[in-house]
Amino acid sequence: MVSGNPPRHEVYRLLESHTATGSRRKAVDTFLVLLIVANAGVVLFDDALAAGPHWRPWLIAFEYLSVGLFTVEYLCRLWVAVDSEDVHGVSAFRARLHYIVSPAGLIDLIAIVPFYFGMLLTLDLRYLRLLRLFWLLKLTRFSPALQSLAAAFYQERRSFLGALLIVMVLLMTSATAMHLLERDAQPEAFGTVLDSMWWAIITLTTVGYGDVVPHTGLGKAFGGICALLGLCMFALPAGIMASAFVEQIKRRDFVVNAKLVSQVPLFTGVGVMRMVEIATMLKPRTVPPLYTVVRQGDSADCMYFVLSGELEVQLEPKPVYLKAGDFFGEMGLLDRAPRVATVTAVTDTQLLVLEESDFHTLMRAHPEMRATIEAAAAARRAAPQPADRPLAPRSRVEPEPAL
Ligand code: CMP
Repeated sequence: MVSGNPPRHEVYRLLESHTATGSRRKAVDTFLVLLIVANAGVVLFDDALAAGPHWRPWLIAFEYLSVGLFTVEYLCRLWVAVDSEDVHGVSAFRARLHYIVSPAGLIDLIAIVPFYFGMLLTLDLRYLRLLRLFWLLKLTRFSPALQSLAAAFYQERRSFLGALLIVMVLLMTSATAMHLLERDAQPEAFGTVLDSMWWAIITLTTVGYGDVVPHTGLGKAFGGICALLGLCMFALPAGIMASAFVEQIKRRDFVVNAKLVSQVPLFTGVGVMRMVEIATMLKPRTVPPLYTVVRQGDSADCMYFVLSGELEVQLEPKPVYLKAGDFFGEMGLLDRAPRVATVTAVTDTQLLVLEESDFHTLMRAHPEMRATIEAAAAARRAAPQPADRPLAPRSRVEPEPAL
C-alpha cells in the first residue's frame, strides 16, 4: 500500500475501502447500484419505452451518461488502486495492474469498452445496448451474498469438475444406449448419437419436454432408469453449491465479527483463541439516530459494545454520552435487575451485542474482564441516576474457575 495522497485516499475510502462506512460511502454505493439497476430496467423495457418516439433521445442520453459515469468510476478505481488494502509494498504500477486483472476490474472494464468500440467502429447499437445487462455483474461488488456465492463456486471448483465429468459420462452413455435401442423405431429422433443427445439432456436434467419419447419397451425401461439417475446426478452440483455457500457465509460472518471484536478495547490482547471464542458470541448490529437501544425499567437480556457512533444515556441532572470503545447494558446483567437508564443512539451507531448467557460464560472464563466491567458498573452506580431508578442488588455473577 502506498500512502501520502490525501485526496486519493479520500476517493479510495468512498469507493473501495473494506473498512470505511458512513453515509457518504453508502450514498456512493447506493447511487452506483441504482444506476446499474436503472440501466437493466431500460434494457428490459427498451422496446416499450422506445415506442413513444419522444422517449428515444432521453434513453440514448441516459445511456451515454451512464457509460460516462462508469468510465469515471473505472478511472477513479484505477487511480486509487494504489491505496488498496489488498496490495502491500508493491509499486503503483503493479497495484493498478492488480486491479485491472482482478475479476472486479475486468467486469468494470468489459462494461464500458464495447461502447467505445461501438462508437468507433459503428457497430449495431441494438446489440451493444443488450450488453448493458452485463453491468448487472457489477452488482457483485456491492453484494456480500453474491461475493460469497462466487467464493463458494471457486472453493468447490474441483468438486464441480468431478460432478461435471460424471454428468458428461452419463449423458454420453444414455445417448449412445438410446440410439442403439430406438434408432430403428425413430430414425429421425435417435438416428445418430448426436440426435439422441437432445433426449438425453432433456431427460437427465429432469426437464422432460416430451417432444421426443422412447417407443420400444426396452427404450422406455432404459428411459426410466435415466430419469432416476438424472435426479441423483443433477442434484449433486446443487448440493455441493448449497453447502459451500452456507460455509462461505459462516466464514464471512466470522471474519467480519473477528475484525469488529478486535476494535473493542476490552478484548484487545486476549490472544487468538480467546478472540475466536469471543467473535462467535458477539453479533454486530447497526442502529439509526434516535433509536432507543435500551429503555429504563425493561428487563436486561444483553449488553452492548460501541464500535462507532454516539449514544446518549439519559441521566439526571445531565445525560452521559458513550462513544466508540465504550460499553453499556452491563449493569442490568451484573445485577440481574431492570435497566437503570434509557440509552438512545445520537448518530448512526455500530454495536456488538452480547447475549446474557454468553455474558455470564465470558465473565466466568475471564476474571480480568469481569473486574473491568464490574469496576465500570460500580463507578456508574456511584454517579447520579434517574430519579425512579430501581434499587440495584449486589453483583450476582458467581466467580467460577476459568473455562
Ligand atoms: P443497564 O442498567 O443494563 O442499562 C442502562 C445502561 O446505561 C446501564 O446498564 C449502564 O451500562 C449505562 N449507564 C448507567 N449509568 C451510567 C453512567 N453514569 N454513565 C455511563 N453509562 C451509564
